[in-house]
Formats: sequence, structure tokens, C-alpha cells
Amino acid sequence: LNAPEHGSDLHLALDTGVLEAPWCGQPHTLWGSGRDAMRALLAWGREHHGWRRALVPSFFCQDVVVAIARELPLVAYDDAPGQPAPAAVEADERDVVFVVNLHGARTSNPMETRAVVVEDHTHDPVSPWAFASDADWAVASLRKTLPLPDGGVLWSPRRRPSPPAAAVTSAHAAAAADRLAAMILKRLYLDGGTIVKDDFRRLAVAGEHAIALGDISGICDFSAARLASLPSRAWREARLRNHAAFVAALGELDGVAMLPGAFAATLVFERAEDRERVRAALVEQRIYPAVLWSLETPAVSGIPVEHVELSRRVLSLHCDFRYTPDDLRRVAQAVRRVTERP
Ligand SMILES: Cc1ncc(COP(=O)(O)O)c(C=O)c1O
Repeated sequence: LNAPEHGSDLHLALDTGVLEAPWCGQPHTLWGSGRDAMRALLAWGREHHGWRRALVPSFFCQDVVVAIARELPLVAYDDAPGQPAPAAVEADERDVVFVVNLHGARTSNPMETRAVVVEDHTHDPVSPWAFASDADWAVASLRKTLPLPDGGVLWSPRRRPSPPAAAVTSAHAAAAADRLAAMILKRLYLDGGTIVKDDFRRLAVAGEHAIALGDISGICDFSAARLASLPSRAWREARLRNHAAFVAALGELDGVAMLPGAFAATLVFERAEDRERVRAALVEQRIYPAVLWSLETPAVSGIPVEHVELSRRVLSLHCDFRYTPDDLRRVAQAVRRVTERP
């Protein structure tokens, strides 16, 4: 029997329910992407509060770093997935520190600072921490955990004023339409339809590339209309269950550890070449993992070499609501097989 594909981009989901999220029932704005939400806040804070500098974790998505640098000069502070807490930062009231729930592994803000705090809840937008946050502002990219083609959200746990929403730009609408088309086609493909895989991959890649490149945009109409009906609580619970099933099924494996955090099941190999070998072997079995993140072309100086090194050794297996614990047990067995093979 041909095992189903595992991983890669989310496809269209048909489940409906009620979104339960920290920004529900309080003022918030929706943006074209997480990066657009961040940029809108920074551009506004620069003008209204004289913000001068942004601080970002040293182990961070470099596309996000590039986007932030469009609005403010930026420096990296020492933080990485698996690290219990970030290093102390030297910052003042006109600095903006992005505190990131990397891989969804943290349960509260570990940062003591006089600076403006913006939390990034992308990896677990409906976590207890996000609900209990007392950050000045919080942002999340929506499409990493929810089956939406685009979207970012900005809210202020401290109920501070926030920038007004922006219109959808035509460039963003086109990118989101490509991504939505890819999600629908992938759904039909996975359901056994006669869909050419290259067709939806091409649309997904083109849409992903174009998203957040242009001017700051609002969210597309589809995502705005769909968001409130996403069963966020059930999906978070499914993710946690799947993650636990993977961890239990993987057990002890020589040369491999796991990073904390249930955004994905993230392996850390002792050697970068094993990561590459296992990744290729999993793809052959139609299991498509992710790497969060490559640091080979840094957009900020001062990334510790150990972080670059770590980024070469990590591999994330998707464990979101698309899957059952049995799916994750199957993936864990595949990881065991291909890792143990000499
Ligand atoms: C932690 C984190 N924050 C922010 C972003 C930016 O989100 P978007 O791609 O929607 O701009 C991402 C994704 O790239 C992310 O992983």
C-alpha cells in the first residue's frame, strides 16, 4: 500500500468551528503576513514614539530579519530554540525587543527589559502564554499553524493604541490568490484527484516568494472571512497529541535528540551530514520535513557560530491537525529506519 504524503505546506481544510484566540474580543488588526504586521507596528512606533532600534533573536528566520530591517536598524541578541532563556539585552525605552516563542517551547516571557516588548506568537498563537501575555504588543503569522493562504495579526495585551489597518495591495492579493489556489489543488491531489503536483507546487512557491515582498498590506478577503471559523483549540490539542505520539514512538536514537516545543517534532542530529542524509531519505518516502531556519545567508551580523552550526543539524517533522497520532508513529518509525541505516 502506498503510504500517504506527509508534511510540507498546509492544504485547504474543511473543518469549521469557532476561533478561540488571544486577540478575539479585543482590538486587533489583520495584515497580509506576520512580517507586514511587524513592519506596520514598527513604522508607526518610529513615527509616534521615536523608536530607534529593533532587537531580534540570533536564531531567527532571516526573511523576517530583512523585513524588520526595512523599518528600523536592528541587532541580534543571543537566543535559540532549546535555550532555556535569552541572554540579557542592553536596551532602553526607545528600543523594541522581539521576544519569540521559538518552536512554541516557552510558557512565558523570559525577558526582563526596559525596552518595548513585542512578542511573536507565530509558532503557537493560541498558547496559554499568548492568552496571558502582558507584552506591549504581540504579533503572529497565521498561515504557519492555520490553513490560510496568508495573514498576520497584531494586538496589544496592554491595550496600547496600535496602527490603523491597511488596504490589501494588488501585489499581495495576487500572491495570496496563488497560495490559495495551491492549497485547494493540494487538497484535491491528496484526495486522489488527477491534479499535477508540479502545478500546485509552482503556485505555492511563487505565492510564498511574493508574499511580504512589497508594500505593507492587509489580509486577503478569503483569510479574513475564514479565520473566525477555524477550530483553533481542537487543532492545538491535536498538535500536542501528535507531538507526544512522535516522541514516544521515536524513543532513544543514537546521534539524535529532540528540541523542545510542539510547533513541529524537531530532531537535532549530532552531525550535519546525518541531517542531510535523513532528510533526503525521508523525501524519498514522501515525508517532507522543514528546516527552521537556514542561517547560511545571515541578514544581521553577530549570529553566534554555534547557532549557524545548530541550524545545519535540525530537521522538523510536521505534527499539526492534518495528522493523527498513528500518522506520527509511522513517521517516527520511518525516521528510526533511515537514521539507523549505515
Ligand atoms: C517565528 C516567526 N515569526 C514571523 C514569521 C513571519 O511570518 P510571515 O511569513 O507571515 O511574514 C515567521 C515565518 O516566517 C516565523 O516563523
